[in-house]
Amino acid sequence: MSLRTLRSLVAVAVATAVATTALVGPPVTAHEARQGGPRHHAPTLRQAAPPGFVIGSAVAGGGHHVDQPYPDPFPNDRVYRHLLGKEFSSVSPENQMKWEFIHPERDTYRFGPADAIVRFARQHHQVVRGHTLLWHNQNPSWLTEGDFTATELRQILRDHVFTVVGHYRGRIQQWDVANEMLDGSGQLRTTDNLWLRELGPGIIADVFRWAHRADPHAQLFFNDYGVEGVNAKSDGYLSLISDLLADGVPVDGFSVQGHLSTRYGFPDDLAANLQRFADLGLETAVTEVDVRMDLPGGAEPTGAQLAQQADYYQRMLEGCLAVDTCRSFTVWGFTDKYSWVPVFFPDEGAATIMTGDFERKPAYYALRSTLADAT
Ligand code: XIL
Repeated sequence: MSLRTLRSLVAVAVATAVATTALVGPPVTAHEARQGGPRHHAPTLRQAAPPGFVIGSAVAGGGHHVDQPYPDPFPNDRVYRHLLGKEFSSVSPENQMKWEFIHPERDTYRFGPADAIVRFARQHHQVVRGHTLLWHNQNPSWLTEGDFTATELRQILRDHVFTVVGHYRGRIQQWDVANEMLDGSGQLRTTDNLWLRELGPGIIADVFRWAHRADPHAQLFFNDYGVEGVNAKSDGYLSLISDLLADGVPVDGFSVQGHLSTRYGFPDDLAANLQRFADLGLETAVTEVDVRMDLPGGAEPTGAQLAQQADYYQRMLEGCLAVDTCRSFTVWGFTDKYSWVPVFFPDEGAATIMTGDFERKPAYYALRSTLADAT
């Protein structure tokens, strides 16, 4: 191609771009950019959200994804990335900050994938929820099979907390410091949780104190499933956290995961439950919402199933919006393409707000109009 042809092609391209800009209206303002784009069309979720309220998604990668027949989602799926940046104002690494992922060998930390998420968040004006530091699951085998003494384990945990929390100091809005500490009857998991078993319950206070020293501005949370309503487990948290606060332990928040199923009734006392934690002076949050449904043999969702799902999403969001200190609502993935549900719950699925082809489901629209109504 001659230089001249190239020049005229460039000229045409520039003219087209100018014309297109003129057609769709004025350039994007700084405010609009912060919101994720111009507001000529239907708003995105983050645009619809009331001021100060963040709407988040887990960022797919690690965990179950490793065995799936697709490339690592977050770095490779452009449509996914585009929607993640546009629709959400908060992100949670789905697995990339868990022990087995970020600390795969005793002397090796692998920060790259989580760093990429934190960078993405910064570029898209999103906050980050860190997940997680103290948990019974997804610990590396060097740790669980290491036969360490209590003194060694405590030192390993302390180093991990200072290293990981310190690495992201100033970049994390909320840390799920302690994940799933209690069993269904509200007792500490002292058998299946390595840390509680080997180090005793006092380790919880230590981890909150270490995390606070490593990043004094991050809000430090307890996070669990099955605690959406008032029940033995959430009662257990209320007394555990009250005791810790009385001892001056820096606990800032209590969050409910929100993994629901259309099989069961909706936890109607969600707002009342969150409110009793807010009354302790805590931040609250909903951190991992999905609503799975029965799809035997890979059946397609029916209209009735999608409507019930939308209703559950909406009521979760309404429950959070009803409580002053609940300012963060996160879905555990936004597309069925990458959901953990079919992998962990055979014959269940379609749990997120968009289909595998990124088509918005009734649940998406229910969230958006609920956000808009609250604004
Ligand atoms: C899940 C991830 O989505 C999967 O990819 C992984 O294989 C297993 O863990 N509660 C939590 C999350 O706190 O970390 C879990 O995430 C879902 C249940």
